[in-house]
Amino acid sequence: MSQRFERHIFVCINAREPGHPKGCCASKGGAEVAEALKVAAYEQGLKGRVRVNKAGCLDACADGISAVVYPEGVWYRGVTLDDVDEIVARTLVAGEIVERLLAPAHPRKAGA
Ligand code: FES
Repeated sequence: MSQRFERHIFVCINAREPGHPKGCCASKGGAEVAEALKVAAYEQGLKGRVRVNKAGCLDACADGISAVVYPEGVWYRGVTLDDVDEIVARTLVAGEIVERLLAPAHPRKAGA
């Protein structure tokens, strides 16, 4: 089966009303991070190879800004604008994991 993109990164931009107990990635800058990832990916020549998608809630709200990369299934948490260039260079280009951003429940974290 052919694959349209080599990788997808989905970045949560979900918004909830202020004061909601779950919080949300929008209030932490999810849309800005998603846009910055898109720009940086294109600058690295990934247009057509990697797709940066804005996503609804990824059900990891407390750890937001949340993002997940496929096909690897790598979950990142607490992503900020400062992490964008590293995610693009290491994960989207090279397929490496940025360990410090792995979500707490990530399988690679367990027993590591
Ligand atoms: S609001 Fe972003 S993971 Fe739920």
